[in-house]
Amino acid sequence: MIVLGGGSDIGIAIAAELVARGAETVVLAGRNHEQMREQALEAGIGVRIETVDFDARYPENHVGTIEEAFTLAGDTQAVVVAFGVLGDTASYEANPALAGGAAVTNFAGAVSASLAATRALARQPRSGALIVLSSVAAVRPRANYVYGSTKAGLDFFARGLAASVKRRGVRVLVVRPGFVETKMTRGVRGKLVGTTPDRVAHDIAEALEGRSTVCWSPGILRWLSIPLRIAPDFLARRL
Ligand SMILES: NC(=O)c1ccc[n+]([C@@H]2O[C@H](COP(=O)([O-])OP(=O)(O)OC[C@H]3O[C@@H](n4cnc5c(N)ncnc54)[C@H](OP(=O)(O)O)[C@@H]3O)[C@@H](O)[C@H]2O)c1
Repeated sequence: MIVLGGGSDIGIAIAAELVARGAETVVLAGRNHEQMREQALEAGIGVRIETVDFDARYPENHVGTIEEAFTLAGDTQAVVVAFGVLGDTASYEANPALAGGAAVTNFAGAVSASLAATRALARQPRSGALIVLSSVAAVRPRANYVYGSTKAGLDFFARGLAASVKRRGVRVLVVRPGFVETKMTRGVRGKLVGTTPDRVAHDIAEALEGRSTVCWSPGILRWLSIPLRIAPDFLARRL
């Protein structure tokens, strides 16, 4: 299996879960090889681990990176799109270039990497799955609207991709976690519907057994997202 954003806490937890379910090689694609490898070992991943260079901000390199990752991984059951930046709205409003950079990483980079990955998955005799980390932040614009809008774009794209590549035997799973305790959310106040990387990984593995395109984690968000989507603004803020 391949993790794009191989130092992601959620990405590593998914790799550990899929190794426990039979994956034999983990290819971590990212910017800091040593850190990715250390995280994988800390998570108890005991199979062959490879690392490749990947930077989401350079879509022109993504086809090459994905090809390299598939060569190292061999038969690949899953590719996880796990990279992303959160940032905060005050910094984005003070520095528009920073907001543009986040949009390039979270959306443009994820679009090109996902297309390259599904093309490679479709070539395999047993295809496989693309797992895309969207977010509950994609449901409705909230205080972190810059981040949320990158995830909404990605979510829209990934659901369209799912329908398009299905006939080529490739499964796309769009994952919408709530608040997950990771490096990304360190220092951010915990929210009511929180979860852990291991729990998200477990929910994803379970969802892969079924046929759904969207996986909420925790599952209760599937229902909580309905009032969140339709409530008037003053109520949605409280939710
Ligand atoms: N944590 C949450 O509450 C939560 C909730 C919903 C969705 N998500 C989504 O889940 C995914 C994983 O998040 P996480 O919580 O596991 O965060 P994390 O542990 O902070 O991991 C984020 C990863 O993205 C990588 N990354 C950032 N910019 C990159 C770039 N330009 N090129 C390549 N890699 C880059 C980082 O690598 P470097 O070390 O090189 O920066 C890091 O490994 C993200 O897409 C996030 O938006 C998270």
